[in-house]
Amino acid sequence: MKGLAFAFVLSAAAYLTIGMIWGIGMGIQEDFTMAPAHAHLNLVGGVLMALFGLYYHAVPAAAATGLAKLHFALSTLGSWIFPAGIAIAQHGPHGVAIVGSFLVLAAMVVFVIVVLRNRA
Ligand code: HEM
Repeated sequence: MKGLAFAFVLSAAAYLTIGMIWGIGMGIQEDFTMAPAHAHLNLVGGVLMALFGLYYHAVPAAAATGLAKLHFALSTLGSWIFPAGIAIAQHGPHGVAIVGSFLVLAAMVVFVIVVLRNRA
């Protein structure tokens, strides 16, 4: 695996590693306030990024497009900003979480376009 597919899968593995350490930390401290942020880092940053990586590995023509690079950029920003925003929102304002949610949505809309443009 190489290129964009590799970047997606490596990112997923990194986010899942961080998310799992975060989960163990919550368990040790017996404080589960950050469970929603942990869950979204693992699911948006880990599971979704891994699925996107496997898609781009299976469809190399799609990975070669500028739209796919935009998809990676939006997904990466969303994977950081959305969980961080959810963490902040536990005790503070919701603005960062809202921005993050729209970044994740924008990434998914771009992915829909990528998939449609690369029909066999
Ligand atoms: C070492 C691995 C992991 C550890 C130690 C861990 C630990 C935890 C802990 C302590 C909680 C809070 C439970 C509670 O509130 O009673 C939690 C919640 C959760 N975790 Fe993990 N987790 C791990 C991996 C994952 C992964 C890989 C995913 C998803 C791909 C995930 C998704 C979730 C979800 C959806 C919740 C519920 C969040 C909520 O209730 O708001 N976790 N986890």
